[in-house]
Amino acid sequence: MNLHRLIYTSVRKAECDDQEISNILASAEKNNVHADITGILLHSKDRFLQYIEGEPQKIKSLYDKIKDDSRHAGAMMRDFSPIDERLFPSWEMGHVDMNERLAFDTKIGFKEKAAFDAWFEDTSLTDSKLGIIKRFAKSQKSSNS
Ligand SMILES: Cc1cc2nc3c(=O)[nH]c(=O)nc-3n(C[C@H](O)[C@H](O)[C@H](O)COP(=O)(O)O)c2cc1C
Repeated sequence: MNLHRLIYTSVRKAECDDQEISNILASAEKNNVHADITGILLHSKDRFLQYIEGEPQKIKSLYDKIKDDSRHAGAMMRDFSPIDERLFPSWEMGHVDMNERLAFDTKIGFKEKAAFDAWFEDTSLTDSKLGIIKRFAKSQKSSNS
């Protein structure tokens, strides 16, 4: 199977409150499984970083739908490239509230928050930027087993 990943960043709108995040995750759970799409949504008070993986046409058409969603703005595709295997084999669209981690998990929280913030500082694609996604993939795997 031809697997790709797509990563984008965007600006979370103020009116996109926690209830809206739940609505987004509910849509993702409902739709992504049918399209064989997995991934993770990282969000802070005012930013989104989403990683999705699956067949290239399917993730691209999902992105085309998401980018016009009024709950965020300025969606920018940061990567769209082939991968050998999925990072997120579980069907559920994972999500991480970066603010919450910072408040309750200070030991690794600051490091992760810095890696998250780096995505919004420039458009380069580096191993350390990808590292934050892989880290959450690992924690999802271990919490499932
Ligand atoms: C940041 C963000 C991420 C989203 N991620 C997904 C997603 O992974 N899958 C999905 O189906 N919809 C996602 N959506 C929602 C879509 O834009 C759209 O509202 C939804 O797919 C509509 O489907 P529904 O009418 O079946 O609920 C996302 C929206 C935002 C703002």
